[in-house]
Amino acid sequence: MTEGQDPHASSQGEPAPPAPHRRAHTSARDLDRYADLFAQRTTVMRSSAMRDLMELTARPEVISLAGGQTDTTTFPPESFAAQMTRIAQESSAEALQYGPTEGFARTKDCIREVMAMEGMGPDPEDIIVTTGGQQAIDLVTKTFVDPGDPVICEAPTYPGAVPVFSAYQADTFQVEMDGAGMRVDRLESLLAELEAEGRRPKFVYTVPSFQNPAGVTMSAERRRRLVEIARERELLIVEDNPYGMLRFEGEGPEPLYKLEGGDYVVYLGTFSKILSPGIRLGWLCAPPPVLEKVTLGKQASDLCTSTLSQYFVAEFFDEGGWREYIDDLVGIYRRRRDAMLDALDRHFPRQATWTEPQGGLFVWATLPDYINTTDLLAKALRQNVAFVPGAAAFVDGRGTSSMRLNFSSSTEDEIREGIRRIGRVISEQVELFETITGEYRVPAASEGEPASGSGGDVLPFRRTDP
Ligand SMILES: Cc1ncc(COP(=O)(O)O)c(C=O)c1O
Repeated sequence: MTEGQDPHASSQGEPAPPAPHRRAHTSARDLDRYADLFAQRTTVMRSSAMRDLMELTARPEVISLAGGQTDTTTFPPESFAAQMTRIAQESSAEALQYGPTEGFARTKDCIREVMAMEGMGPDPEDIIVTTGGQQAIDLVTKTFVDPGDPVICEAPTYPGAVPVFSAYQADTFQVEMDGAGMRVDRLESLLAELEAEGRRPKFVYTVPSFQNPAGVTMSAERRRRLVEIARERELLIVEDNPYGMLRFEGEGPEPLYKLEGGDYVVYLGTFSKILSPGIRLGWLCAPPPVLEKVTLGKQASDLCTSTLSQYFVAEFFDEGGWREYIDDLVGIYRRRRDAMLDALDRHFPRQATWTEPQGGLFVWATLPDYINTTDLLAKALRQNVAFVPGAAAFVDGRGTSSMRLNFSSSTEDEIREGIRRIGRVISEQVELFETITGEYRVPAASEGEPASGSGGDVLPFRRTDP
């Protein structure tokens, strides 16, 4: 195939397929036609901010610090080719077939190997293989949440969870975080308030390790208290842990699932960040009564997770080098994290604060409250650089002066250049504000004190994880 040729075009001699019928834009009349048919829930469905951004950042000249992607160029193409060839030669018919809804036993073995690395040992019967961790969030919400039910998550929370909670019409409450993760004391106050109103939250959703988007890790002490609260109150915790294995330094606190034992903690995992997001393979661990309902929910949504992807993971694990592959990723991401922190120090004005993650993929930066990062993104895009505006991680319009910065999917040079460009755009705004008002403003500095202004009660994070 010559360069520039469409790889999907039909080969010579075959009749060309009919030209697709394209619509330029959805007109008001088009919308009217369906308006009475849409389900009520579609009125509260939100677009995923990251999905929208992916279109804008796909231009090759844009340095995107917006995605949550891992660097899939690190996976050797020759290994991928050999693994897929073996599948084709030895298990073609099976790999192309439907599989059981709960996933293959071999996939569950791989999952158990991964979870054992963080000290967990779930019963295979307690595991369901899902189409990515995203489906696991969707299934758990579908299983527990009726319209109006309270759900609690962190402030900020994983931006991809926000559209899920909205789609099921949850009444979502967000509990502030600081450098040691979710403020469990504030969670307790919220639980007391809800109880006084006769309301019981369906679950608390948390990403306790190297959180997306904040990059912070919940301390061991808070984890223990959270687990105690779960037991005392019979409160369900949904622990989403895509990043626990991506630790750059130090020892990690124990997962909630391990601390609690799995009665009140539903655990979500994924191969996306340690192998490939393209294979769309995740999992959920829950006690049998919960898993039964989740399995029914999954049957309705996609019957089973991709058999081919499950065969690929089994091949990859059979080769035995998966731990070394994660070690390589950790080394690469650590250097990129360092490049980002160094560039932030050099190029962001002193009026900004940011987290210093010990793992994962993200740094969370907070600017003075007169800067709106959604507006700032438009300016940054003109400089061919992108980030995720903080508002995407809130259900209620907070986070407007914060941003999520990804360091896993760009090279060290790109990260340095991207941060330099964002820093310049921020500095222009800061200088303008200070010249006009004569005022010097920083995000509220003391831990535990709410930041003022449009940030609402978003707590600025200390620069270092405790
Ligand atoms: C906290 C968290 N949960 C879930 C997901 C979804 O991942 P996937 O569906 O690729 O497994 C992500 C992806 O970025 C994430 O950061």
